[in-house]
Amino acid sequence: MNLRRLRLKAGIRKLVRENWVRKEDLIAPLFIKEGLEGRKEIGSMPGIFQMGEDEILKEVETLLKMGVGAVILFGIPQLKDSVGSDALNEDGLIARSVRQIKKRFGDEVVVITDLCFCEYTDHGHCGILNPRLKSVDNSATLKISQKQAIIHAQAGADIIAPSGMMDGIVKSLREALDAHGFDYLPIMSYSTKFASAFYGPFRDAAESAPVTGEAIPTDRKSYQMDIANGREGILESLIDEAEGADILMVKPALAFLDVVKSIRERTLKPLAVYNVSGEYAMVKGAAERGWLNYHQIVLEILTSFKRAGADLIITYHAKDIAPIL
Ligand code: PBG
Repeated sequence: MNLRRLRLKAGIRKLVRENWVRKEDLIAPLFIKEGLEGRKEIGSMPGIFQMGEDEILKEVETLLKMGVGAVILFGIPQLKDSVGSDALNEDGLIARSVRQIKKRFGDEVVVITDLCFCEYTDHGHCGILNPRLKSVDNSATLKISQKQAIIHAQAGADIIAPSGMMDGIVKSLREALDAHGFDYLPIMSYSTKFASAFYGPFRDAAESAPVTGEAIPTDRKSYQMDIANGREGILESLIDEAEGADILMVKPALAFLDVVKSIRERTLKPLAVYNVSGEYAMVKGAAERGWLNYHQIVLEILTSFKRAGADLIITYHAKDIAPIL
């Protein structure tokens, strides 16, 4: 016998285990829906809910009790228009929610705000449209993103997380935050984000699917990355690091672990993965049918993220899995 010697006893296996998932690694995504009383389950994500503004406070409390200390917020406002005005209003949905959460829980919870426009625009794209390009206009979107970041910062967000894949977003947010006295506020960039079919259920949850129309495509391929491109994935994260991102991210996680590993080998910054809605739905759906052991599968998946080199894990499984960590 050779390597099996260290596998024979559970106690020894534990001693030589290379990677652990900790509660402290987890970030739970939360969907806040304006005007909703209580909570409403998302059809394609069993166990995940849109929640009203009061309900969110209860959810944060539950997560904290379980040892999950970080959340990332997504807002679904009643008002949607071509420029995402609700996101630019200091009394908009997300600004209000951040204020309430921070007022109630203070520094007990880390509040991360997703910074994007797809949930706030009537066309469902991640910024202001440019009809000539049949895509999102980069510089116009950078301008409103700066405003949105200041609103999140003033409301008390602990980390700002731009997810729209605009070129130069980290640099322009850093400049805006610094100019307004928020030079201490970290940016977690969705630095390497692929145009993935794994986001399908999220678009139900966030009511953010791009709408049909001949003028602009209904996918995000003109700003999110081609799923086939590993080298470009590394480049995207390295550029964001150079622009001043404090935390980098790969999204989705499971089908892109090669990219996670490559980035890990090239950066000393903390690296996050986003275990996205479709990854959650696949596992949850199969588990509901009794086809696999839910907790074991989730643990195996989350451990694979750590093995690939991720530090932080954004996951819808947070609440289910925290009790067994
Ligand atoms: C954009 C955003 C998306 C997700 C997180 N932020 C959707 C998209 O790019 O279409 C997806 C997350 C998931 O699928 O769980 N605001």
